[in-house]
Amino acid sequence: MPRGVILGIESSCDETAAAVVVRGSETLSSVVASQIAIHSPYGGVVPELASREHLRAIVPVVRAALAEAGLGIADVDAVAVTEGPGLAGALMVGLSYAKALAFAAGKPLIAVNHLEGHIHAVLLGMREAFAAEAEVKAGVAPLRESRGRPVLPALALVVSGGHTHLYLARQHGTSWSYTNVGRTVDDAAGEAFDKAAKLLGLGYPGGPWIDGLAGHGDPDAVPFTFSQVKAKAHRPGQRAALPRFLFSFSGIKTAVLRYVELHGMRAGIEARRRALLLMDNPKPEDAVGLCDLQTLDLIASFQRAVVGDLLRKTFRAAEELGAASILVSGGVAANRELRARFAAEAERQGVPIAFPTMALSTDNAAMIAAAAWPKFLTREFAAWDVTPDAGLRLGEDRIAATE
Ligand code: KG4
Ligand code: ZN
Repeated sequence: MPRGVILGIESSCDETAAAVVVRGSETLSSVVASQIAIHSPYGGVVPELASREHLRAIVPVVRAALAEAGLGIADVDAVAVTEGPGLAGALMVGLSYAKALAFAAGKPLIAVNHLEGHIHAVLLGMREAFAAEAEVKAGVAPLRESRGRPVLPALALVVSGGHTHLYLARQHGTSWSYTNVGRTVDDAAGEAFDKAAKLLGLGYPGGPWIDGLAGHGDPDAVPFTFSQVKAKAHRPGQRAALPRFLFSFSGIKTAVLRYVELHGMRAGIEARRRALLLMDNPKPEDAVGLCDLQTLDLIASFQRAVVGDLLRKTFRAAEELGAASILVSGGVAANRELRARFAAEAERQGVPIAFPTMALSTDNAAMIAAAAWPKFLTREFAAWDVTPDAGLRLGEDRIAATE
């Protein structure tokens, strides 16, 4: 059997990334070139700029990942690349490059769903932790338990700037299957963090800023409420629906805006925005002194509410679906309050829970290479005419099937 060295390439949004991972369980290198500084002045990702920056970065980033792993392209057994979902132009850069590289080097190409990648960011860490169980570590035996407790099926919350999805993840031999059991009906949770931060004159992306400032305010100061989003009842003749869990994060953004207007906070926000613009590479800590108590309370209450909503629905879904464990991944999984509260609730309920490392929470290519390993084992290779799919879904979609 080949050694299972996979070169992963990721370019779905605003990070150009490449990584070398062996058998979905050992990371030899993981290089991420962030475009934050490019998009920061616009307060969001500008698709045309993202594509151009990917074009600039892709060759040096892939070279750096191979060099850090001490390998050449000839040593790689397959090239894995993000096929979607994401920005079409951004995906095109990574996919075209990966195709050309794999074709020229005579290596198979593996197309990976970005969302599956996020789930495998957690599994990669779990496999690394299973050092004693060589076969599990190598990804060739099922991932059954964590500290003696079963982990499958797992409920995976993928919560990022573009997605808030719940999947029931199962393993069949070495292959994985996913059933989509929850999603947002409007904004993603990370988008709510980004929009709230922008509204309050903070930096981009907003998540780390809110995370950094929330600890300085009172999370109970502003009562935010989440309305329950009702899933449509399934019609006669349709397949019986699994329970479905719907999120909605556009309301809280409007509530923050209303709070700002009602409490005359505009001038303070403008002053903060200008002060941060004058700083060279400002960090969330730099903004503490620029926020009055009312702002800090608003930030803390916002984060408390968003994390609370994610937590309640995720744990309810895990219970109703009989999940043996919970996996949390995506950029918002880097949030400290989210990690602490999810870990505490899991402990209280006796449910195993796992997060990716901080570096693997946000977009990276190690997760793409890790997700490709089961596909490598079953020789699920992409055709040379594969094209990016900006709206690619993951797994069986129980939600769409019943709406
Ligand atoms: O997974 P990711 O890098 O890209 C997407 O696939 O969207 O996630 C980026 C998102 C952004 O919305 C960012 O604000 C959010 O993750 N994020 C956070 C934190 N770090 C990143 N949100 C809350 N707290 C954080 N510490
Ligand atoms: Zn992502």
